[in-house]
Amino acid sequence: MVEEKMKVPFDVEQIRKQFPTLSQQVYGKNLVYLDNGATSQKPQVVIDAIAKYYSEDNSNIHRGVHHLSQVATEQYENARATIQRYINAPLLEEVLFTAGTTAGINMIAFSFGETLKEGDEIIISAMEHHSNIVPWQMLCERKKCVLKVIPINQKGELKMDVFESFLSEKTKLVSVTHISNTLGTINPIKEIIDQSHQAGAKVIVDGAQSIQHMKIDVQELDCDFFIFSGHKVFGPTGVGVVYGKKEMLDILPPYQGGGDMIAKVTFEKTTYNVLPHKFEAGTPNISGGICLGTAFEFLAEQDLDAIAKHEHHLAKFAEEEIVKIEGARIIGTAQNKTSVVSFVIDGLHPFDIGTLLDKQGVAVRTGHHCTQPLMDFFEIPGTIRASFAFYNTMEEVEIFIKALKRSVEMLR
Ligand code: ALA
Repeated sequence: MVEEKMKVPFDVEQIRKQFPTLSQQVYGKNLVYLDNGATSQKPQVVIDAIAKYYSEDNSNIHRGVHHLSQVATEQYENARATIQRYINAPLLEEVLFTAGTTAGINMIAFSFGETLKEGDEIIISAMEHHSNIVPWQMLCERKKCVLKVIPINQKGELKMDVFESFLSEKTKLVSVTHISNTLGTINPIKEIIDQSHQAGAKVIVDGAQSIQHMKIDVQELDCDFFIFSGHKVFGPTGVGVVYGKKEMLDILPPYQGGGDMIAKVTFEKTTYNVLPHKFEAGTPNISGGICLGTAFEFLAEQDLDAIAKHEHHLAKFAEEEIVKIEGARIIGTAQNKTSVVSFVIDGLHPFDIGTLLDKQGVAVRTGHHCTQPLMDFFEIPGTIRASFAFYNTMEEVEIFIKALKRSVEMLR
């Protein structure tokens, strides 16, 4: 079992050495990469695994009798098993490979949507990424269902009393983010899942921003679906995972038709393959799946508690320093937060700050972060967002703060 391996004691310098992208200069300055909410950098083991796959093992899977196809199939299915163990999914066939979180949510929105009827209700929250808003709006339009949105308070926390008041026998599905990509809020996900289940609703957890920061145990959560992207968890882009309870995946219709998802095709009738293949039409991102497995092997060796403390420390220090700047305001001050620091500075546009930070070697994200309704709620055009990972250092936060102060001086 991957989880039973010895944990490597947390040492940020040792970690950094394994991420080659981090040791470069941009505009003659050491790169300070604080855009981990958008995507994470990759450890050498993942980069090597990508090169190895294309140098030695490239072949289509589940199809060929030939040696290479069998090698690639075995590696792909081993990666699925690694991910199954990591998230503690009871069954291998409950782990579906997709292209990412967006693809995963769209898949379930379509398939689950087929089981809904007019007047059924779906609940999301005010802090969702567009990828957990728009698919449900499309579904509600198609099926004449009702979309309800859990409001938030000024700190960026869900109003749980309103959520409770939304739940009824009409509620069929609750789809909420575990952690807000913009605010860093860690939602009370277990409470949401338990209350939804009591009302008879199924729950999707958007885990795109949580899987890289905390241990995820889908059995403990008891969620019906848990969806995440590979690229935010130190794996490749273009690959992601939908965990779904077998009892759900068995009754949901397939999303896409094509090769690999069928048992028997005739012009009169087609029958579908068993799980997980029923939801995996076409040639998948084979290298992506295999190397996402490598990323999880790497992550399974890390001390996640020590990492969480380190990341929290960095974010807290950054927040303390940012608020000392005149006119600066943190957006997202929930009590339970991860290492995402979003902020605005009065009179200055986030884009201008981001551009000046970039010229000083500091990479942050600016804008609405694919959460426009959240920007409307806070009545701001966007934020500057520094999002930390375990390879960031205190020294980097100091460089960021210095560069930020300099940028503000230049713009005022
Ligand atoms: N969802 C990603 C972000 O928050 C792209 O930046």
